Amino acid sequence: MALTWLPPADTGAVVKDLTRGFFVDFGHIPDGVWAAPGRVNLIGEHTDYNQGYCLPFALPHRTYAAAATRDDGILRIASVQKSSGWEGKVTDVRPGRPDGWTAYVAGVVGVLAEHAGAGAMGVDLLVDGHVPLGAGLSSSAALSCSVAVALRDLVPALADLTDEELASACIRAENEFAGAATGGMDQTVSLRAVDEHLTLLDCHDFSVTPVAWTLPEHEVLVIDTRVHHSLADGQYAARRQTCELASSALRLASLRELDPARLDDEDVRTALAGITDGLPRVRHVVSENQRVLDLVAALSEQDARRVGSLMTASHRSLRDDYEVSCHELDVAVEAALEAGAPGARMTGGGFGGSAVALVRRDAVERVAAEIARAFDQERLQAPAFLAAVPSGPAGRLR
Ligand code: GLA
Repeated sequence: MALTWLPPADTGAVVKDLTRGFFVDFGHIPDGVWAAPGRVNLIGEHTDYNQGYCLPFALPHRTYAAAATRDDGILRIASVQKSSGWEGKVTDVRPGRPDGWTAYVAGVVGVLAEHAGAGAMGVDLLVDGHVPLGAGLSSSAALSCSVAVALRDLVPALADLTDEELASACIRAENEFAGAATGGMDQTVSLRAVDEHLTLLDCHDFSVTPVAWTLPEHEVLVIDTRVHHSLADGQYAARRQTCELASSALRLASLRELDPARLDDEDVRTALAGITDGLPRVRHVVSENQRVLDLVAALSEQDARRVGSLMTASHRSLRDDYEVSCHELDVAVEAALEAGAPGARMTGGGFGGSAVALVRRDAVERVAAEIARAFDQERLQAPAFLAAVPSGPAGRLR
């Protein structure tokens, strides 16, 4: 059975084509070309909006943006992949206008224009996405972050923004303008990843600690189930709301503050009793935070088996307690484990998108083939695969 692999784009070729395409679309050459990575999360799912821990890393798969500023306050947005774009005044950008994919771009421009203050800020933007869409690999954060780094470099009033401030601007753009209730992990790793490292992110204060990959014989295989998820649908927002209700019932600022040992306490159970699915949702968040820290420790001990078992435990918790998995993700995880992977789990928001498996380098092709066979047996659409190599953050290419 032929497997579908999704390699990263050839950056040199993309930059050349994008520069040419920009000229065709806008009639002048861009001031530069920038790129921002998608991400995969190794562990720590649905913890970011609970001020907890997660451990994502940037992918070599990126979204590219060619940009040039204009002095008339007009924003023009075009894409290599989509025929639809947008043109209008920056001052007319507001939540829901424009909508669809252009909201992610216009939202960043709108938030940063506010930040830049007086003076008409206009920009022409042509974007080219090479992060698989709808695969749970943060193509939307790659899009907003590619635009954000371009504007910071081009607009003098934005030059002093830190990566952290830029990430906050992208989070606001996605939350308020695009209506996607994302929690901040994706934008943070896209802008603040360290090349060849995982990013331990503490969402209490958004501090990041680079974590070395210490398992030279293993790599992370991403399995794109091809089931497209959408963060805009109600399930993500519903999980968030349950967590907020639970933390206020427990009189905590966030679930981050709940000690796992207290999960069996009578007062905790009583406080959560009135919240539908409160206890299992809280149990996932609290146990997942601990698994992130345990996995970082296992990595420093080069203990592949323990890393794997924590990943699998995370999947079971997301499947059974948080209920954000789906049949395709479960098939991918179980097939990877049966094929000998030390661990596997769904990654990202869930309900589709991708799974990740820890796989010995010399077994990657075989494990991928066995997962594809399991999909075939279940009569599911063939999955796609990508080799997840921890890569660097967003930045300027030209
Ligand atoms: C999506 C969101 C993230 C995070 C994950 C779940 O990817 O964008 O902020 O909440 O889901 O861990």
